Amino acid sequence: MKSTLPHLSAILLLTFASLISSTIGDIANLTFYGVWIGAGPQAIITKFESTLVLPGGSPDQSPTHDVQAFWPGMEPAKSNAVFQNVITNQGGGPGECPATNLTEQMRVWPGDTVKNVFTLDIPNGKWYNNWVVTPGEQGNAAGQQPFGGGFEFDPAFDTETKGAPYTGALLTIELQELGTWDFGSVMWQNVILEANTTETKWCTDGPSGPKNWNWTASPGTFSTSDKNLTTCYYAMIVLESPNPN
Ligand SMILES: *[C@@H]1O[C@H](CO)[C@@H](O)[C@H](O)[C@H]1NC(C)=O
Ligand SMILES: *[C@@H]1O[C@H](CO)[C@@H](O)[C@H](O)[C@H]1NC(C)=O
Ligand SMILES: *[C@@H]1O[C@H](CO)[C@@H](O)[C@H](O)[C@H]1NC(C)=O
Ligand SMILES: *[C@@H]1O[C@H](CO)[C@@H](O)[C@H](O)[C@H]1NC(C)=O
Ligand SMILES: *[C@@H]1O[C@H](CO)[C@@H](O)[C@H](O)[C@H]1NC(C)=O
Repeated sequence: MKSTLPHLSAILLLTFASLISSTIGDIANLTFYGVWIGAGPQAIITKFESTLVLPGGSPDQSPTHDVQAFWPGMEPAKSNAVFQNVITNQGGGPGECPATNLTEQMRVWPGDTVKNVFTLDIPNGKWYNNWVVTPGEQGNAAGQQPFGGGFEFDPAFDTETKGAPYTGALLTIELQELGTWDFGSVMWQNVILEANTTETKWCTDGPSGPKNWNWTASPGTFSTSDKNLTTCYYAMIVLESPNPN
């Protein structure tokens, strides 16, 4: 792992919230740096797992109007409404707007890992959303205890997607207003996507992402079960810097 901003004058405490962002209204300077994984618009996702290593805090001492967020999420083929677990620097408030708070916000520290597991309950079409936060060095020093949580989510009640199956998985940095990518590289480990397909090229060719900024990924490896589900694994996906590779 590349160390990020080792000389911080202030440590930003990040908060953890799970949100569904629906219509993106007029958010100033809304910018995404993301990569996506998926087996195509017909292959529904049945599981998406990832472990985010929280980057160093931003050197900006005031997070007001300096929105920085990271999230793993999924969206259907014909909609850009995202089911996402958001880590945001906007303490006490949602980092996305409009958003529905599904869980209480929790404090996390740079160096903590956040493992997210989205699992489709295939017979009833609901999703289990579970997470575990493991403190890193700073979290330990602050006396943080490991914590986790989860809930079941019925996409049929999402007024944006109306229950359309998710087919694209995203690992994303999101910036708004005065937010800039000034917190170093953002790493996800043990990224696993399971989809209803026997195709595998999407895995070995993936993830996909823009070429105008710097990200890297381990080679994709896969296995296909007798239930026609292919599981794809990336040991590491790193969003390195906003500058071109
Ligand atoms: C989300 O929670 C925050 C803090 O608890 C609260 O200020 C905000 O109004 C909530 N947002 C929504 C959309 O419920
Ligand atoms: C959008 O970004 C520009 C350039 O950084 C900045 O000058 C402007 O204030 C930002 N707008 C808002 C509403 O934050
Ligand atoms: C996979 O897709 C096929 C064809 O649409 C469907 O019959 C099957 O139930 C799906 N399996 C899962 C686990 O969604
Ligand atoms: C199995 O996978 C194929 C190829 O991706 C897909 O077209 C088909 O619908 C799937 N069938 C079942 C029964 O899951
Ligand atoms: C961009 O990516 C390459 C690997 O593809 C890496 O060697 C380089 O250090 C990266 N640059 C930045 C600024 O992260």
